[in-house]
Amino acid sequence: MSEQTLRLRLAGISKHFGAVHANNNIALEVAAGEIHCLLGENGAGKSTLMNILYGLVRPDAGEIFLDDKPAAIHSPYQAIELGIGMVHQHFMLVPTLTVAENVILATRPLFSLRRLRETVIRDRRAIERQVGEVAQRYGLKIDPAARVSSLSVGEQQRVEIVKALYRGVNLLILDEPTAVLTPQETADLFQTLRSFAAGGLSIILITHKLHEVMAISDRVTVLRDGRVVGRRITRETDMHELAGLMVGRDVRLTVDKTPARPGAPALVIDRLTVVGGDGRRLLDNLSLQVAAGEILGVAGVDGNGQRELALAITGVIRPASGAIIANGQALVGRTPRQIADAGVRHIPEDRQHMGLILEFPIADNFVLKAFDRAPYTAHGLLQPAAITAYAQTLIERFDVRTPSPALPAANLSGGNQQKVVLGRELDSQPRVLVAAQPTRGLDVGATEYVHKALLAQRDAGAAILLISTELEEVLALSDRIVVIYEGRIVGEVPGDRANAQKIGLMMAGVQTASQAGGEYK
Ligand SMILES: Nc1ncnc2c1ncn2[C@@H]1O[C@H](COP(=O)(O)OP(=O)(O)OP(=O)(O)O)[C@@H](O)[C@H]1O
Ligand SMILES: [Mg+2]
Repeated sequence: MSEQTLRLRLAGISKHFGAVHANNNIALEVAAGEIHCLLGENGAGKSTLMNILYGLVRPDAGEIFLDDKPAAIHSPYQAIELGIGMVHQHFMLVPTLTVAENVILATRPLFSLRRLRETVIRDRRAIERQVGEVAQRYGLKIDPAARVSSLSVGEQQRVEIVKALYRGVNLLILDEPTAVLTPQETADLFQTLRSFAAGGLSIILITHKLHEVMAISDRVTVLRDGRVVGRRITRETDMHELAGLMVGRDVRLTVDKTPARPGAPALVIDRLTVVGGDGRRLLDNLSLQVAAGEILGVAGVDGNGQRELALAITGVIRPASGAIIANGQALVGRTPRQIADAGVRHIPEDRQHMGLILEFPIADNFVLKAFDRAPYTAHGLLQPAAITAYAQTLIERFDVRTPSPALPAANLSGGNQQKVVLGRELDSQPRVLVAAQPTRGLDVGATEYVHKALLAQRDAGAAILLISTELEEVLALSDRIVVIYEGRIVGEVPGDRANAQKIGLMMAGVQTASQAGGEYK
């Protein structure tokens, strides 16, 4: 990091949303070639600050200086002109277009879709090759010809990163880019970011993963309740201090877990096969069982069938063959609602599309699966008072940071949206819980809470299928671990004997359980 040149200076940035003081007199400095981490609890104001810098949100007060010159940034278009790139927390991709089309669309913001189609059709090969080259150069695996709607969340995130890099930038903002990446992908991305920084690019990175902060950044700024509460040089601090600064209390960074007392199998999956639109087997004769009172972790690199597994169990997609039995009831062929009523609940990986109706008030999102029942409906009429009262209790229990349950869910910060989904699904006391990436985007304090909540559900007798690309999370919570690779279970390991390295090899398809030493049956 070169100390001499200041690439960015933010001074006195403030922003209110109604009663919420999202940014309160924030100052931030980033040097040329510096990797700067922005850290803070869910709702602390990180995305707001970056959206201001990118011209998406107009501040109430404050100034932005780029290379010592005052900069007026009133739109993302101006931000791009000034060499600022941003990878957003929630994707901004057009699902019906291909990867290459999305990247090109981003370079020509004024293109109509028709002109885009014409350009791409004419130069399809060349454009896909170019986009593929950029992706490859940065170690980001994506198929430029793939339609975005068919990609996993992790793959979509990679498209977002390629989109920003493709345009050429000198200040790159990444809002939780690693939330959906595998450890290997994160390592690759970090290597790329380091080489960018060495070339003079300034990077602002938001992440909730403190080990990433320690691994990648030169300096850290910590926000709490919209204010800067600390600035540190990374090599002069540690994870514990940063966690304390963020949440204002002492946080445990490890999970305390007692041994499980598994009962009868509550979820049985027998030779399940799911076939994709292109005829490929996304799940291939997959069998597994989860007992009541047990957490079965599914480890795997994103895109190996985890998504299809969760969606088949919860009735969103229909398997080609095989059986799914929960509490003795066959689920295949039932609707998602019937499956939820059978006590099978789902924390979806994609909270914005499957977990929430963003335009609806927070309160309504809490009763999405029960609004037509007492006490939320009586005599055929919705009972807003009952819904609001229920929402209030969940808002408190799950520490959802919002001034009111009446606000649209869209106005919540990313992590707080996740807490709404968690509150709804966990409060129904599920007998079977499919938890996909349950702590994605949560801050350390909220993650600690969710881990405790999942273990409490387990001890209350729930069968939990934990699907997570976060190997550390799988290791910390699971009583047994299976590894999924190309739609098949390639190994099983007891939770207390799990070894990150061996599981990592199985995840990469390099090794099966028997090759890993034979001790895992
Ligand atoms: N458009 C909006 N309308 C109303 N309130 C908003 C809006 N955007 C953000 N907020 C509020 O501003 C505060 C800061 O939100 P922000 O998204 O910046 O948090 P964050 O630090 O990025 O959190 P996370 O880690 O969960 O992504 C939150 O209380 C949020 O609810
Ligand atoms: Mg955010």
